[in-house]
Amino acid sequence: MISDKITEPPYPMARQCPFAPPEEIGRLREEEPVARVRTWDGSIPWLITRYDDVRAILSDPRFSSDAGRDGYPVTSAGMKQQHKANPTFIAMDDPEHAKHRRMITGEFSVRRTEALRPTIQRLTGELLDAMERKGGPVDLVSEFALPMTSTVICELLGVPQEAHEFFQDHSNALLDVKGDPARAGRAVEELTAYLTDLVAKKMKEPADDLIGRVVERRVKTGEMTQQEVASLGILLLVAGHETTANQIALGVLYMLENPEYAAIMRDGDDKAIAAACEELLRLLTVTHIGRRRVAVEDVEVNGVLIRAGEGVIASGDAANRDPRQFADPDKLDILREQNHHVAFGYGIHQCLGQPIARIELQTAYPALLRRFADLRLAVPLEKIDFRGDMVVYGVHSLPVTRGSER
Ligand code: HEM
Repeated sequence: MISDKITEPPYPMARQCPFAPPEEIGRLREEEPVARVRTWDGSIPWLITRYDDVRAILSDPRFSSDAGRDGYPVTSAGMKQQHKANPTFIAMDDPEHAKHRRMITGEFSVRRTEALRPTIQRLTGELLDAMERKGGPVDLVSEFALPMTSTVICELLGVPQEAHEFFQDHSNALLDVKGDPARAGRAVEELTAYLTDLVAKKMKEPADDLIGRVVERRVKTGEMTQQEVASLGILLLVAGHETTANQIALGVLYMLENPEYAAIMRDGDDKAIAAACEELLRLLTVTHIGRRRVAVEDVEVNGVLIRAGEGVIASGDAANRDPRQFADPDKLDILREQNHHVAFGYGIHQCLGQPIARIELQTAYPALLRRFADLRLAVPLEKIDFRGDMVVYGVHSLPVTRGSER
């Protein structure tokens, strides 16, 4: 629905603190938990801010993830184009979604993801060595977080080393909310062309990597087309690379500003490190523009009637600080019990790559903070450029240095 009256608050809203959701979101959660908001194209979807309502919506088949449906609150004009050019299961509903997701769930089993751990540890060590050789100041985003997470996805898929930079650049173009839709469209086309070619190569030469195995088990058996495998590759790149990179960089910045938490990462045991990582996921919720859905039937949510065809934004960052679910929600508490945050979503679309993301975070944070115990920001916090206008929140760059370096 498009409205001419400007009565609804604009969404996304401006933050007051770079590490916390906008205060307005907190106010809505208390006073108007199902509220109309105005998005970039003038449409006025519903913003849902309470934990229980967010989980109810994300597990209710009456809310569709199909970005092609009328009323779906797209994040940019580019998103519509991307969806048409490259439909993937993150934007499908069951049973179609389940059919596609099932084809690759085995690739994210404990055994398979654990097999990536040594690669992640080696990569982390190599990147830290390079940072140490370079001396300070260095940009933690471009020298550590982005190369680490993009290399992990590339290694998972079986994308050769020389194409890693190409993927990083194209993924950025896809996720730039304010970017030119034509540029986003071109990025999808070029990525698809590259991956289609890679899939064709793996059809001829079997490979023991995700694409290679999917080719053997799904394409050669006629269950999936080569085109679908190329689209899957794009989904994994886009979903897995910048999310994790921004969670790493923003988490490091948060800990540099709150040294008591850096100490937990540096000196804590595996349990404390894992708990601190979950708390950083909950508090920072880098997927800050909410889980987008459209109602396919009339549904009542917390006493408000949402009509078929109306868009809904289930706010994960608001839910993750709902005091009804989390005692003292703004505090990082490694002793928190039952930390069922929704930073990885909830319901049928819950993040498939979360075991990999967890290994990356639990490896990267302590390794970085142990190697550089005197790590600090190389510029004042006010100079940091936060990604408020991007699909994935975080920092554009993070200049850091060692205690003694200038
Ligand atoms: C800190 C890192 C990450 C965060 C915060 C994150 C967050 C999310 C969220 C919130 C969703 C739900 C989307 C929805 O409901 O519409 C999702 C889905 C997904 N994520 Fe992640 N993710 C991360 C890392 C990864 C990684 C490393 C991969 C792959 C290697 C990945 C692959 C996926 C896929 C394939 C989906 C779609 C699942 C489906 O639709 O069934 N993610 N992620």
